[in-house]
This record gives sequence, structure tokens and C-alpha cells, in this order.
Amino acid sequence: MNISQLWPTYMYMETFTDIDNEKISEWILNYKKNTETRNASNQGGWQESISDYQDEPIFKNFIEAILQTIRVTKLKGEKVTIHSWANINEKGNWNFIHDHVGSDLSGVYYVKVPKNSGEIVFFDPRTIDTANSAFQEDHPKSMGVEPAEGNLIMFPSYLEHMVTPSESDETRITIAFNVCVDS
Ligand SMILES: [Fe+2]
Repeated sequence: MNISQLWPTYMYMETFTDIDNEKISEWILNYKKNTETRNASNQGGWQESISDYQDEPIFKNFIEAILQTIRVTKLKGEKVTIHSWANINEKGNWNFIHDHVGSDLSGVYYVKVPKNSGEIVFFDPRTIDTANSAFQEDHPKSMGVEPAEGNLIMFPSYLEHMVTPSESDETRITIAFNVCVDS
């Protein structure tokens, strides 16, 4: 018998140990002091683009981690464009369900992740009703990932996701990004 997987959704996850999370945390907290939050998916949190600073030495290994992950994806292209933004969630802050349609790949790098500061939850991209338990057993309608510091997660930009409310008294810091690949 031939068994095929039709339209699988890939998620890539790697832990990077050569990114200076302490320094990046400091940089982001300092940047926040002089910057108003923009309003996107964040519910009470702060987020702002850091695309203008991506070439600075402090972000070199972070950008390299993204490029390294892109190389193992199925996306092939000559020109890679990355847009990134920093996110800070305090207790009670969360990000509502959204996607990043318009880009090819999206992802998150976890700079500072206190315990119980929020899971990233992905939602089944199939638009038909897959409530039948036979479909649900291995692939429930939503799947949560509890991240750790140094994790980089990358997924197709069409995949809907959210971040659950932080229950931690400590600050959660992440950098999210979009990747466009032109062939
Ligand atoms: Fe997102």
C-alpha cells in the first residue's frame, strides 16, 4: 500500500546556545524605554520593529540562526528578506490568534522565558471540519508548545497561532520575525 502525506505543515525548532540572551534582553528593555508599543496581536504587551537594527553585532548570531533554519526548510530562493520585532509580555499579557500571511516563513526566538509566561499555540490550518475523533487523535485542532530560552521556532506564515496569557511575575522577551524568499 502507498501511504502519502498530503499538504503537511512543517514546524522547525532548534535550540541555539551562541546567542547572547542577556545582552539582547538588556538592549530590548532599553529600546522599550524610548519606544511606544505598536498595536498588532499583543493584548497588553509591548512590541516594536527592530528591523533597522538587525545588522548590529548584537543580533549577528540571531540572524545567522534564522538563516541556518531557512536552509533546512523546503523554501528555495536567491534573496532572503527578514523583518523582525521585539515583544515583551508581562503578567496577564497575551497575543490573540493571528497569522502572518504575506510572508513565506515566520518564527519566534525566545530570549527570556520565565516559567508559565505563555505557550505558543498553533491551530489546524485545514478549513473543513475535522472534529471527528479519528482526525483528532494525533492532530488535535490546536497544539501548544512551551518554549525555552534559546529556542527558535519557524513555521509557514499561513499557520494561525496565539500566545497564552503570562502567569509569571517576571518579564517574557521574544523576537518574532517574518521571512520572504524570492526565487
Ligand atoms: Fe505571530
